[in-house]
Amino acid sequence: MRNLDENTITTAVLARHEHAPDERLKTIVTSLVRHLHAFAREVGLSEREWEAGIRFLTDVGHITDDRRQEFILLSDTLGLSMLVTAMAHRKPDGCTEATVFGPFFVENAPEYRNGDDVANGARGEPCFVSGVVRGQGGEPVSGARIEVWQADADGFYDVQTGDAETHRARGVLHSLADGRYHFRSIVAEPYPIPHDGPVGRMLKALGRHPWRPAHLHFMITAPGYHRLVTHVFRDGDRHLDSDAVFGVRSSLIAPWIHHDCGTAPDGTVMSTPFSTLSFDFVLSQSP
Ligand code: BEZ
Ligand code: FE
Repeated sequence: MRNLDENTITTAVLARHEHAPDERLKTIVTSLVRHLHAFAREVGLSEREWEAGIRFLTDVGHITDDRRQEFILLSDTLGLSMLVTAMAHRKPDGCTEATVFGPFFVENAPEYRNGDDVANGARGEPCFVSGVVRGQGGEPVSGARIEVWQADADGFYDVQTGDAETHRARGVLHSLADGRYHFRSIVAEPYPIPHDGPVGRMLKALGRHPWRPAHLHFMITAPGYHRLVTHVFRDGDRHLDSDAVFGVRSSLIAPWIHHDCGTAPDGTVMSTPFSTLSFDFVLSQSP
């Protein structure tokens, strides 16, 4: 193949993959090349712009390490993560919707019993969280493994604070025989996604902000049901309609109810302000 020009190059590249042994890989790369070339033609990509794109992706790679995944952040902020999540978790009506996983999940978080305080010293107004885990037929799911993680009052997850040893505002608990769960934590606050790197510069150049509306992360697993990875978003947050990673779904928004003082749902007498949140989860059945 010689003398390729701007009209014949795409077909030539695709022909080179004709005998690729992995059919799925061939499908993916064929589509990728088609769309990539179509994009370059559509915008009339200049050499300077191509170089800037290569520099940007190089910066994304350089800042990525075991603790920071800038490529996932790029995928999140371009809406690709949420698109893949939405396609992978088409659920029957009535089931709790999924949303993005995010980069702040940690394996081996501490185990707690219902009623415990998962904040473990994280800064924030106390919040009492409760609800029921059910299956799509309405049946209570007992023994569901519930992993919860969230940012503190300053908008930071424990893993961002430099003290990797101490788990704060995250933990694992299990639903009770009637599907109920309840724990104490702190009020979730909005926070900006990490924006001191190339993705932050991209957002700025595009006139976008890096904020996520306040939320609690949940991952719920139980035998016989699909794993649910989701958030509960705080009603009234000013970023609900402009989430930097496009993860908000109306069905996941719930009110955090403020109390000046008084008796919390678990009977704790509070002399300082606190909040309560109630949220029920519905798991979809696995085959
Ligand atoms: C999060 O909610 O933890 C998150 C999700 C996507 C990008 C950054 C943070
Ligand atoms: Fe988060």
